[in-house]
Amino acid sequence: MTDRASTLVIPSDFAFLVREGLTREGQKELLSKFLYDQLGSALFDVICLLPEYGLTRAEERILSRHAGDIVKHLPQSVAVAELGSGTGKKTRLLLEALCRRQTVSYYPIEISSSALASCARELNDMRCLSVVGLEREYLDGLLEVAARRAEGQRLLVLFLGSTIGNFDRGANGKFLKQLRRILWEGDFLLLGADLEKEVDTMLAAYDDSLGVTAAFNLNLLTRINRELDADFRLGQFTHEVIFNQRTRSIEMHLRSSAEQVVRVAGADLTIDFTLGESIHTETCHKFSLEELQQLAQGSGFRPASTWLDSQWPFAETLWVAA
Ligand SMILES: C[S@@+](CC[C@H](N)C(=O)[O-])C[C@H]1O[C@@H](n2cnc3c(N)ncnc32)[C@H](O)[C@@H]1O
Repeated sequence: MTDRASTLVIPSDFAFLVREGLTREGQKELLSKFLYDQLGSALFDVICLLPEYGLTRAEERILSRHAGDIVKHLPQSVAVAELGSGTGKKTRLLLEALCRRQTVSYYPIEISSSALASCARELNDMRCLSVVGLEREYLDGLLEVAARRAEGQRLLVLFLGSTIGNFDRGANGKFLKQLRRILWEGDFLLLGADLEKEVDTMLAAYDDSLGVTAAFNLNLLTRINRELDADFRLGQFTHEVIFNQRTRSIEMHLRSSAEQVVRVAGADLTIDFTLGESIHTETCHKFSLEELQQLAQGSGFRPASTWLDSQWPFAETLWVAA
C-alpha cells in the first residue's frame, strides 16, 4: 500500500517522485502533496468556500461551538503543533479559546510556503500567540517541535480538514503510529475526519460546478510543466472524480482524452498515455465513527471525546496518547 501523503519531499526529489509515479506498473499516480504549490494553495482556499465542499464549514461550526469544551480537556500548559495548517483560519477559533487561559506557542507545519505565509498573516494580530512556522513534512516538523518543547509541557497536535483521508487505508494507521511515537504519554491529537455520506454529495464536493477543483487538479500538470520542463497539454486531460467502493474513498484522477506522448525533460522521462488512461492524484478516504475508534486504539491513542456537526457528517475527535 502506498504512503501517498507522507513520503518525504525534498524539493530536488520532485523529479524523482514524478518519474516514479508515472512509470509505475498499472495505475499511474502523483502524490497529492504536489497539488499545493502557490497556485494550488490559493485554489484550495477557494475550494473551502464552494457550496459543494461542506467539510470546511462543518469543521468551522464544530470549532466555533465547541472550542471551549475541547480546551477543557487539555492540561494547563500546552504547545500546539498543526500538521498541514493551510491558512490557519479555522485553527484561530481553537487558539482564541486557549488564549483565554494561557499564552500559546503555535507551530504550523506546512510544505506550502505560501500557505505558511497566509497562516502567519491570519494570526498576526493575536498578541497571546507566538507563531513559529516550519516549512517541513508533517513528521519532520513534529520531531522538531517535540525537541523544542519546554520541560513538562504537553503537546496538542492538530490534524484538521480530514487531511488524514489523503492517506490510503492502512497507510493512515502506519502514519498515526509514527506520529504517536514522537509524542509523550498524555499528549493530545485533535483529528478532523470527514464521515461517509451519500455518494452524490461526496462526489460533488470534489467536482464542483464552477470547476475550481478541476483547476486545482490540473494545476499539478502546470506545475510539472513549469518546474520540470514538461509538455503536458492541459486540454488533453480531464478532471475526474470517482467513489471507490472497496476503499470507501473519493479518488481524483486526471484522465487522458487522447493517445499521446508527454516529455518531462527535468525527470528525463518520455511517457505514453493511451486514450482514457488516468493518473491518480488524490485519495480522500471517508470514515465511519467505528473506524476512527479502531484507528485511535490501533495507533496507541485513547479516544477522549468526539464532536459532530449536525448539518454535514464530520467528526472532530480528541485522542490522548496512551
Ligand atoms: C487538505 S489541506 C488542509 C488545510 C487545513 N488544515 C484545512 O483544514 O483547511 C492539506 C494541507 O496540508 C499541506 N500538506 C500536504 N501534504 C503535506 C506534507 N506531507 N507535509 C506537510 N504539509 C502537507 C498542504 O500544503 C495543505 O495546506
